[in-house]
Amino acid sequence: MPNTLAWIDDALRVVIEERSLPARLAEAVRYAALGPGKRVRPMLVRRCAVAVGGDGDTTAVSRAAAAVELVHAFSLVHDDLPAMDDDDLRRGRPTLHRQFDDATAVLAGDVMQSLAWELLAEIDAACPQPGGLSTELAGATTDMIAGQVFDTLGGQETAGDTDADRLRTVHRFKTGALLRASCRIGAKLGGATEDQLEHLTRFANALGLLFQAVDDLLDVTSDAATLGKATQKDADAGKLTYPGVFGVDGTRGEIRQLHETARSALETFGPSAEPLRELADRLATRDR
Ligand code: IPE
Ligand code: IPE
Ligand code: MG
Ligand code: MG
Ligand code: MG
Repeated sequence: MPNTLAWIDDALRVVIEERSLPARLAEAVRYAALGPGKRVRPMLVRRCAVAVGGDGDTTAVSRAAAAVELVHAFSLVHDDLPAMDDDDLRRGRPTLHRQFDDATAVLAGDVMQSLAWELLAEIDAACPQPGGLSTELAGATTDMIAGQVFDTLGGQETAGDTDADRLRTVHRFKTGALLRASCRIGAKLGGATEDQLEHLTRFANALGLLFQAVDDLLDVTSDAATLGKATQKDADAGKLTYPGVFGVDGTRGEIRQLHETARSALETFGPSAEPLRELADRLATRDR
């Protein structure tokens, strides 16, 4: 497997270049999509394709991974806007609207989303057994946006009786949906059986909650120099978070449990799922 960061960044560069966007927009999209992020979602696409016995190095896999990362980058650009979380720092650099301006940030987010649909429509058509890849990502993006509504504007009160239920609903939507789509798209491109798809979906559901639980924890326990984004923001903004509901130690316990659930969902896979297990381990203990 070639180095994942170079592999996905090459794919992103190509898909941005091959579409002739206005120069300022292309520059903004490159700034947002190619900044120093972790590229977790592309890794999931590729490692799930491999886990089910498929080839992780096909063009379809790298272009699908680029599509998912474009939707993620769009969600971050809009998440940082003054009307949303109002953040100045992202990935250790000024947020897109700070580096450019609000209009460019809105439009760059918009176009990253439409580029993703163009890519997946092309892969759907070329795939012998397409399995609705674009439907997978479109549904997840709609859920992510609903999650951002719950997180920013509320309205999730009907999702459950307890804060813990409501918290899990927000996180399943705003963060889990895109991680789940990454896994399912990779699995489908790798030729997954129904059974494999079901196990990977269970894996992704646990990983989605784990990922946002760690993000919430780091907001409380880390600092901007390490994380590359502002910390200590969620409580003041009145967000429903894991540390807010379970406390810091309780959050660590939840993360341990979710990590176990994620790993146990991979039990039926052999060594082909080792890269995925390694990624889950890394995400459970990450410090940025
Ligand atoms: C941050 O995502 C937003 C969440 C969904 C928690 P990442 O932690 O994956 O951000 P990057 O891509 O590495 O910057
Ligand atoms: C962001 O959650 C989720 C999405 C972008 C969909 P956060 O608002 O917690 O992410 P950060 O902490 O700004 O990266
Ligand atoms: Mg937010
Ligand atoms: Mg935010
Ligand atoms: Mg956060």
